[in-house]
Amino acid sequence: MSSILKINNINKIFINNNGSDKAVLQNVNFEVEENEFIVVFGPGQCGKTTLLNIIAGLEKQSSGQVFIKDKLVEKAGPDRAVVFQNIQLFPWLTALKNVEYSMKIRGFSKEEYHSEAMKYLELVGLKGFENSYPIKLSGGMKQRVGIARAYCTKPDVMLMDEPFGALDAQTRYLMQDEVLRICNTEKRTIVFITNNIEEALYLADRIVVMSDCPSTVKEVVKIDLTHPRDRTDSEFLRLRKEISAMVNRKR
Ligand SMILES: Nc1ncnc2c1ncn2[C@@H]1O[C@H](COP(=O)(O)OP(=O)(O)OP(=O)(O)O)[C@@H](O)[C@H]1O
Ligand SMILES: [Mg+2]
Repeated sequence: MSSILKINNINKIFINNNGSDKAVLQNVNFEVEENEFIVVFGPGQCGKTTLLNIIAGLEKQSSGQVFIKDKLVEKAGPDRAVVFQNIQLFPWLTALKNVEYSMKIRGFSKEEYHSEAMKYLELVGLKGFENSYPIKLSGGMKQRVGIARAYCTKPDVMLMDEPFGALDAQTRYLMQDEVLRICNTEKRTIVFITNNIEEALYLADRIVVMSDCPSTVKEVVKIDLTHPRDRTDSEFLRLRKEISAMVNRKR
């Protein structure tokens, strides 16, 4: 396996309006293999979104580098796609048009973007809802559109920032199964952010455990549990306890 994404010694210091500074990320290093499902797990406000935005090219790091396929990331690009926590769909466009739009702006031809958008809406379980407007879609369905919109552009790396954080517990479980099903149907490299250890353990090939702010990588843990995973299994619960404790462990 080869490494597709390299996070090399990333530091981020925000300068506040009053001139004071705030270190958020400190010497963050890890690598992601092709088709791997990596979960970045860390406590609230530790800098997870900042890290994701840096990988996406939406935020500039203070120092360090991000490489995708050994190419230095300097700005946002079609090799990455982001699924945000609070998904923003164009309310005046149907589910289909929302997905088509993301392909259109990336230069896909009309023939291509129509059939591909239909294909990816079906993949995420929205066949029959192509012509629905976002106002008619539930939170889970909107996230499905968001996943289709990111998937259809065939990025090298999918970045998902707590995509299910705003969903109720049942829908969240359902979406976790759905995202695994989608990834099995069409393999992708995923960087998935969460502050929920159970979600991390349910999904991840490896978990990157982040510390409190200023955040650094405490440990990278390979999860060898087979799918589908049982959240009440003794090994699952043991790992849950062990990884939760890592966050607060002294450096
Ligand atoms: N543009 C900014 N200017 C100053 N400080 C910022 C800026 N963006 C984020 N921060 C600060 O950086 C810290 C980390 O924020 P970030 O949103 O990356 O954390 P997070 O782990 O994603 O949080 P959450 O768990 O709430 O999603 C916070 O203290 C936040 O206030
Ligand atoms: Mg965040």
